[in-house]
Amino acid sequence: VWATSSPASRVSRLSERRFTRPIWWEDDSPDAAVVVIDQRRLPHEATTCRWTTVQDTAEGIRSMQVRGAPLIGVAAAHGVALAMRGDPSDASLESAIALLAATRPTAINLRWALDRSRMALTGIRDDARADVARQVADAFAEDDVASCRRIGEAGLEVLREIHERTGRPVQVLTHCNAGWLACVELGTVLAPVYLAREAGLPVHVWVSETRPRNQGASLTTWELAQGGVPHTLIVDNAAGHLLRTGQVDVVITGADRIAANGDVANKVGTYLKAVAARDAGVPFLTAAPASTFDPSCPDGDAIPIEERDEDEVLLVNGSPIAPEGTRARNWAFDITPARLVDGYLTDRGHLAPGHLEPVLR
Ligand code: MRU
Repeated sequence: VWATSSPASRVSRLSERRFTRPIWWEDDSPDAAVVVIDQRRLPHEATTCRWTTVQDTAEGIRSMQVRGAPLIGVAAAHGVALAMRGDPSDASLESAIALLAATRPTAINLRWALDRSRMALTGIRDDARADVARQVADAFAEDDVASCRRIGEAGLEVLREIHERTGRPVQVLTHCNAGWLACVELGTVLAPVYLAREAGLPVHVWVSETRPRNQGASLTTWELAQGGVPHTLIVDNAAGHLLRTGQVDVVITGADRIAANGDVANKVGTYLKAVAARDAGVPFLTAAPASTFDPSCPDGDAIPIEERDEDEVLLVNGSPIAPEGTRARNWAFDITPARLVDGYLTDRGHLAPGHLEPVLR
């Protein structure tokens, strides 16, 4: 814990240590713990949590030490590896999968990773399962890195085209956090931004705060500051104003699940940004790997939307913001209909609406 006294010293202390990934094994030993950045405490404290059991992993996902669809999937695979180390039996595998699957309902990457972990471990002898499960978790992490890079390359072309057309720094609006904190490296939405930066293309990111958990305010700003990317924080409701007044070139958001018809589940508030973007004639793009597409969901209505504790809405920094007795509803995600999505930046290319075959296979 980097306990500090003033906001100014916090900023400088945080920049002293540069994390590059949100999850890793503590060391190479067979009984190593899984270490994750505790995302609940950013940006004020850069602390980590150690997981030694699958129960730790499940609690870490549920309590949002880690969050973001791709990272939830990668984390779950690490949880399976921890379970296999303790007890490699089929019963233990199934109970680990059930425990992890029940943590958060919307991000399909979780089920995707668990289904693939089960497939990889089926037919493997009990005494080899712990090793294989760890290799599987590592492979998922590396695959995610490669996916994010490909998403970044697809998005970089879009940003380059905008810059060549306008001759100005590209103005990107995003919501929530879909950077490397939500993945393993680079991120989905932020991958094009980081690659643009590497390529010397000027980019500025408008970051919406993302009530009630403020993933934009606390995580995306932190990431962008670490990466030296110019950015400005706005309240969620300012996005409409920015879009209407021509201050945004492209909206890019992530996804927790994309249905077969292209409807997108993402952090609550995404839909309103898509509506405002369409009204303003600004392209709205969704960035996500193939593992976020769910061919078994025909449309957005089939996607389960997580509803979280009302206290996340009713309390700010532990203090009530509404009269006692006020009830709140707290949907964590919403659905943006496919008709509002202008393109999908995926690890299988920049796909046009209605042409999602490469990611639905
Ligand atoms: O509730 P969270 O923080 O897990 O929600 C995260 C999002 O909505 C992200 O936009 C999405 O998972 C994509 S992350 C690359």
